[in-house]
Amino acid sequence: MTSFVDVCAFEDIPNGKHRAFNVDGLSILIFRINPDVFALENRCTHLDFPLEGGRQIGSDIICRKHGARFDIRSGKAVVGPAVDPLRRFEVRVREGRVEVKPSMPLSRNPFVRAAS
Ligand code: FES
Repeated sequence: MTSFVDVCAFEDIPNGKHRAFNVDGLSILIFRINPDVFALENRCTHLDFPLEGGRQIGSDIICRKHGARFDIRSGKAVVGPAVDPLRRFEVRVREGRVEVKPSMPLSRNPFVRAAS
């Protein structure tokens, strides 16, 4: 059974910002949109460019490479050139700590294409 992995303190992520962490070999972005946190893979689905440092506007993040825009809450690509959604991960806050389930991507959402 996959368990949650401690990543950082909730206070380590300023509201409206994000930070990247290496969790079990995966680069995962933790976003804070008060009072919620979200965990997405740090990899643009257009050409695999890291999303860390991209401009965060409300609940969207913009890829620095070609400007694709993703909805942080759903992972969905809302502006191209990216089409596929970002991988999302289960995340929670317990006793002031952010915890992620790195091997449990929420990939069964309707936006993810089946592997061919
Ligand atoms: S690599 Fe992100 S938009 Fe192209």
